[in-house]
Amino acid sequence: LKRVEISSDLGKCFVHIGESHDNWVKNLSLEKHIFITDKNLFRLYRNVFVDTPTIVIGMGENEKNLDTVEHIYFRLLELEADRSTVITGFGGGNVCDITGFAASTYMRGLRFNFIPTTLLAQVDASIGGKNGVNLSEYKNIIGTFSQPQFVLVDFNLLKTLPQREITCGTAEIVKHALIASSAFFTYLEKKSPELLSLDPLVLEKAVFESIRIKSKIVEADATEKGERRKLNFGHTFGHALEKIYGFPHGEAVCLGMIGAIKISVARGLLSEKDEERILTLFNQLKLPTHLSLNKSVLLETIKKDKKRQGESVHFVLLSGLGKSEVVKLTYEQLEGHIHDLCES
Ligand SMILES: NC(=O)c1ccc[n+]([C@@H]2O[C@H](COP(=O)([O-])OP(=O)(O)OC[C@H]3O[C@@H](n4cnc5c(N)ncnc54)[C@H](O)[C@@H]3O)[C@@H](O)[C@H]2O)c1
Repeated sequence: LKRVEISSDLGKCFVHIGESHDNWVKNLSLEKHIFITDKNLFRLYRNVFVDTPTIVIGMGENEKNLDTVEHIYFRLLELEADRSTVITGFGGGNVCDITGFAASTYMRGLRFNFIPTTLLAQVDASIGGKNGVNLSEYKNIIGTFSQPQFVLVDFNLLKTLPQREITCGTAEIVKHALIASSAFFTYLEKKSPELLSLDPLVLEKAVFESIRIKSKIVEADATEKGERRKLNFGHTFGHALEKIYGFPHGEAVCLGMIGAIKISVARGLLSEKDEERILTLFNQLKLPTHLSLNKSVLLETIKKDKKRQGESVHFVLLSGLGKSEVVKLTYEQLEGHIHDLCES
């Protein structure tokens, strides 16, 4: 069992890694408490919800919008939620993002917790206090910065998770290694089969290391004015691919990272040898590595990305394994790079 404390301008959050959710759920019902989960999880983990009022939402990226949030607000009113109510999001990144946003805005903010149930949510979406929903085709454009009280990472919950979702989670783990730790990257190279098969020791080390890296960055820059932008590595293209082709988030981010890696190599920041090592690791983790892009659609979609600033976009590049930097690229420069990527 491990514990990470995240202390930032947004307050404190405790991440409990390797705990069982059963005991925590019993303690939660002592307070005025409401769960938010999705239909899949409500069906799979019925016992969790028997004694607690539960708001059930639909699955998938298309549900992450203001209609779902409004539905939650009305249910909170019906359930007579007030400022003393605590809300716990039990689910993947989708549930965490929606729960964090709804809880932070209802009555100007209720206390909330996360019990993340996908590997991706355990290492990334539940950590760091960014809670957002989509507006039409604009991803995560409406949101809040606000920390949960605690995040409970229970590895047993991953036993029911489909293999493709496990693979998706490994993409964000590799992202954390690539932006901040070459030693962690080397570890993942050695242990990728064990990570995919959820070997307990490897899983605990990979999740802990990943959360540690993200927490340090969040502590330094909770509201994304500089350093935190590094966590968006792979996301400029990734969000566009998620929107255009409907890839799951982790796969889209993997392909987005490959785009950013190719640009890093083209700008002489990263060696081809390191690029090769990264692609080999993605292959070992069964992540998609074939990047096929439609230039004009991609550029149009990127223009709608919230990471843009005027005529340019903050883009994260690698300058080595475990080393990242944020550069400002104009649309013209980005267009040139996308053109080259589409040719190669
Ligand atoms: N706020 C952040 O910092 C942040 C970071 C990364 C990703 N995200 C967001 O997270 C979302 C993606 O999250 P995700 O990949 O977890 O997807 P998801 O929440 O859509 O879950 C994927 C699927 O797995 C199912 N599922 C979840 N847990 C399960 C379990 N234990 N057993 C069986 N099925 C289970 C869900 O019902 C769903 O169908 C995206 O919207 C992304 O933008 C947010």
